Amino acid sequence: MRFGYFDDARREYVITTPRTPLPWINYLGSEAFFTLCSNTAGGYAFYRDARLRRLTRYRYNNCPLDSEGFRIYIKDGESVWNPGWQPVQTGLDRYECRHGLGYTVIEGEKDGVAVSQELLVPQGDDCLLMRVTVRNDGKTEKKLRLFPYVEFCLWDAMDDGSNFQRNYSTGEVEVCGAAIYHKTEYRERRDHYAVFWADRKPDGFDTSREAFIGVYGSPARPEAVFGEGCTGSAAHGWQPVAAQQFDLSLAPGESTAILFGLGYIENPRDEKWAAPGVVNKKRAEAMIARYAAPAAFDGAMEALRAHWDALLSNYRVSSGEEKLDRMVNIWNQYQCMVTFNMSRSASYFESGMGRGMGFRDSCQDLLGFVHMIPERARERILDIAATQFPDGSAYHQYQPLTKKGNLAVGSGFNDDPLWLIAGVDAYLRETGDWSILDERVDFDNDPSLAQPLLEHLRRSFDYTRTHLGPHGLPLIGRADWNDCLNLNCFSEHPGESFQTTGPSEGPVAESVFIAGMFVKYGRAWTEICRRLGLEDEAAAGDEAIAAVEKAALTSGWDGAWFRRAFDAFGKVVGGKECEEGQIFIEPQGMCVMAGIGKETGEAARALESVRERLDTKYGIVLLQPAYTRYHLELGEITSYPPGYKENAGIFCHNNPWIVCAEAELGHGERAFEVYRRTAPAYIESISEIHRTEPYVYSQMIAGRDAPSFGEGKNSWLTGTAAWTFVSVSQAILGVQPTLDGLRIDPCVPAFLRRFTLCRRYRGAVYEITVENPDGAEKGVRSVTVDGLPIEGQVLPVQPEGARVSVVVYMG
Ligand code: BGC
Ligand code: NOJ
Repeated sequence: MRFGYFDDARREYVITTPRTPLPWINYLGSEAFFTLCSNTAGGYAFYRDARLRRLTRYRYNNCPLDSEGFRIYIKDGESVWNPGWQPVQTGLDRYECRHGLGYTVIEGEKDGVAVSQELLVPQGDDCLLMRVTVRNDGKTEKKLRLFPYVEFCLWDAMDDGSNFQRNYSTGEVEVCGAAIYHKTEYRERRDHYAVFWADRKPDGFDTSREAFIGVYGSPARPEAVFGEGCTGSAAHGWQPVAAQQFDLSLAPGESTAILFGLGYIENPRDEKWAAPGVVNKKRAEAMIARYAAPAAFDGAMEALRAHWDALLSNYRVSSGEEKLDRMVNIWNQYQCMVTFNMSRSASYFESGMGRGMGFRDSCQDLLGFVHMIPERARERILDIAATQFPDGSAYHQYQPLTKKGNLAVGSGFNDDPLWLIAGVDAYLRETGDWSILDERVDFDNDPSLAQPLLEHLRRSFDYTRTHLGPHGLPLIGRADWNDCLNLNCFSEHPGESFQTTGPSEGPVAESVFIAGMFVKYGRAWTEICRRLGLEDEAAAGDEAIAAVEKAALTSGWDGAWFRRAFDAFGKVVGGKECEEGQIFIEPQGMCVMAGIGKETGEAARALESVRERLDTKYGIVLLQPAYTRYHLELGEITSYPPGYKENAGIFCHNNPWIVCAEAELGHGERAFEVYRRTAPAYIESISEIHRTEPYVYSQMIAGRDAPSFGEGKNSWLTGTAAWTFVSVSQAILGVQPTLDGLRIDPCVPAFLRRFTLCRRYRGAVYEITVENPDGAEKGVRSVTVDGLPIEGQVLPVQPEGARVSVVVYMG
């Protein structure tokens, strides 16, 4: 069942009922000011850091769900409704929500009154704009009341939700004309405030939640809306809010638009006050003035469209396969940009308080956005690298606001260092900007320890090289990519974090997955060395890689697939002798992507085993058989009920590894089939089962062992976005950035007989046509550039500004 449809021409998903299986959200903002906005206008806003600078309050896991947001109430006689249906939930005559790239438009209609609520965060500014247009479609004059309502958060979202003995006494506001200033804690240590404004004077306002909603009222039944109107309340402590009242009278056919804004302002310390106790509002007034002209909102929308046009023009396919084009050209790349902005911090599953930027997460996200924003990718790489320790290991996470490693989560995830090589390698292949390797970057955020980025990569490689276990495989530490495979943890007490309990290092537990990574990204490192003339280092590195590759093919090989690990007692994890968890997806994907066993047959055998044992109609599950009881020696993975998350869920993130691995072996049909099973546009028609947004990937789909097989969770913030983009854009459609230029090597299903691609790369545009007359799965017969044949499959790098036409014949 569907709850809407894709409008590809406008690059929107159009939701036609507010009763989606879960709130379906969108992200507004791509610089510093961000808003999460659901299809009913639920959500919240923050500046840079979802935990430390939260502007509006949101109660996760609330009942009913998604109660807080950017609310508009319409009072028409006795009837009260919201254009987005929530929170009053009055039935509407018409409802539609359009989630577009960086904006959301919600329209509701009732009893001849049509209201549209358009939300966006303008480029280059720190505010949310919300234009509300009310139209009288009836035959008689309408007298209406319109109320906007947001609830402020007292900045630090964690403290806001826990420290009530203090927070009930700190809230402060100022009201000045059509603007409400939220200035809690401004008198002492904060130099920032929030402002909610309207572009015309309201007929009333409230700033105390108690006055607007009522102590025992609810956002579904605000006393001011259902009763006599706003009371002009001033919040002192308790819960500051911004509510206003507009009394409208509209002739038949008449419409009126009110622009609302929610801004974040920082003042220099010595310019905080206009008068004792009175906030200096100059910067806020300038912000308000920027949007005072009626055309300003449309201008902001235009600028946003131009921004996305430019970003998405870097990779565009036209294949005749509608769903494929839709995912590649619009939604997959959009989701990659959202992971750039949010990492894993704020979604409807990530509270914005728990996690900052992950070292491995952010490095992998880079793979999905580096072609759109190479300069910001560069900056991100340097930020991440600065949280590496001198020995090559790394803080597992850092806070976006401070850019400092997060001590509470610590380090010891032994895959982390290698992801830095993966990210930098992707950057070099995309940009050819070798100067990044000379950038001096702190270790452990300490400028006195700074070294060129090249040295960071060296230490990444060396960390793995020097941390091998009894079988010559890399030690796993706290965990590898699978955060829940905690082989040195042994947690027996409720509430302990699996990620920080126990020693961060064990001398025995090893990971075959990291072995695959070491081969794949180790080779990227030695290739970099070679290009820099570091021949000896490259040769020594290759020797170390060969040894680990051998270990993967001996101790790491189970006979028909790659084992997963050895636990702290040296026992096999992910082998046929295991009672549960006999085969895992991760080492099959990573080892084959690394080319391990490609020549000798193990790679093909491993992928057959994946198909035989892990395939389901909704995607490939992470392991089989699922763990049915808690294994102290394996950790969090066995804490999930069978079929969920890392315990045999369909972890979407590593499905594309299988796509890449299948493509490595030339299996175009199978690669596409694996791609298709989890791709949102392809499963839109089962939205009632999948439940999460049909335009983006979720981290996890419940596996076949779960009662809710097929149900998605943790949508939006997942490495799935980057990896599926890599798998479809590089492995399937075959446009692969290399150190020497774009390599063209498609691996496609037989039905794709012809497709065209437009790829902007290092400042030049490549118009590529792939002809596949015989339906080959892989293989390139000829390549021409502007009509002239070239040797091999790597397109010569074109000068900046050039536009060339490339024709590729497969077969
Ligand atoms: C989740 C993992 C996640 C980890 C992050 C675990 O509870 O299952 O998917 O990577 O937390 O700390
Ligand atoms: C989600 C985490 O963000 C990611 O870093 C990890 O690799 C996966 N879960 C698997 O555990």
